[in-house]
Amino acid sequence: MSTTEEWVQEFEALCARVSTLFHSEIDDENVRIRALRLAEKAVHQLHTPMTFAEAQTWAPLELFGAGVACEMGIFDVLSKHSGSLSTADIAKELNADKALVARIMRLLDAHFMVDQISLGQYSANAITRDYVQPYRKGNVMTQVGLMPSYFALPTWLRENDYNVLPDAKHCAWQVGANTSKTFWESMSEDPRLGKYFNDYMTLPRTTQEEDFVSFYPFETVFSNSNADDILFVDIGGGLGHQAMRVRNAFPRSRGRIILQDLPQVTSKIAANSLPDVEIMDHDMADPQPVKGARVYYLRGVLHNHADHVSVQYLSQFAAAMSPESRLLIHEALASDLNPTKNVTRFDLKGITGGGRARGISDNKYAERLVYYGSQIKESLERYGFWLLITDL
Ligand SMILES: C[S@@+](CC[C@H](N)C(=O)[O-])C[C@H]1O[C@@H](n2cnc3c(N)ncnc32)[C@H](O)[C@@H]1O
Repeated sequence: MSTTEEWVQEFEALCARVSTLFHSEIDDENVRIRALRLAEKAVHQLHTPMTFAEAQTWAPLELFGAGVACEMGIFDVLSKHSGSLSTADIAKELNADKALVARIMRLLDAHFMVDQISLGQYSANAITRDYVQPYRKGNVMTQVGLMPSYFALPTWLRENDYNVLPDAKHCAWQVGANTSKTFWESMSEDPRLGKYFNDYMTLPRTTQEEDFVSFYPFETVFSNSNADDILFVDIGGGLGHQAMRVRNAFPRSRGRIILQDLPQVTSKIAANSLPDVEIMDHDMADPQPVKGARVYYLRGVLHNHADHVSVQYLSQFAAAMSPESRLLIHEALASDLNPTKNVTRFDLKGITGGGRARGISDNKYAERLVYYGSQIKESLERYGFWLLITDL
């Protein structure tokens, strides 16, 4: 056997162990992520500059293919069947052109989103089943919807001499989407994009998501409360998934929980989906109507806005807070050393939308919080605020 062949066999044997050693429900998420990062580095070493560029420059088509499959219902059809389906079966069930379905299936197979078990026969895998979830469809289609701002970014930066300030009203979104509206305003006018985005926000962000209430000493902050007290205000809380997590952990008898967001979002909350959570239309730019809550909570909200806008919002919260109140800012941070791919992508997305995003290392974020505190009359520091850092 040649040395090359021996090496290939050794590599194959190593790869075969991956699914048993690092299955997706591995208990220790950190171990799995470390292994993934090592494997990514190994794949990178196997690339030539040519194959690397090929993968990168054609990557948007992978996303668009997934988007088409989501909207056609291909993932739904495959996931419904326990066995495999032929291209013709799928096309028939979707009343779609067989040749088009064949091409999409080929792309999905090449990108591991379905399994081809024999020629032209496909079955669902874990990714297929995940892509049926509304939050995943929302995830895919939100990225498709944001594409205009991504492709406008090079032009917009070039035309501004690579010297731009975060400003939601003047960013790549306006150029790419050919609008004078901000991304949030555009969403309110496009129900399809709005629905996809809101569904996307319900996505469980980390495997520890269910433990959210244990990340912060809510029990202590909610101590000695009664049914009239306001425990938790989820500001910009989307469809209320985090508010509901807190509600499930603390019964109504312990106090009230309020969800606030713009009407374009609150109007989409399904009836009875948030038992014992009060839903309130509210724009953060306006005075905060809920006074003296124990916790004001913002997850993934401030990074979408320029500093001066965040300071304006925080001033409204500070004015409503009592000495017992706490402000909880929940964000993910990019580390300058060994940043993950995702966090750097997310950071660039922040630039396209005119937000500050999170392309900042931990200590710089701490500096910004002090800056926020110093900019508002009633210093938030007086009441204490927490920065909760997890993946978003
Ligand atoms: C990135 S999403 C985060 C949603 C939710 N907090 C979460 O973590 O899933 C930002 C949210 O802020 C809301 N938002 C944006 N501008 C707002 C404003 N001026 N007043 C209130 N909510 C706003 C959006 O509608 C959206 O639901």
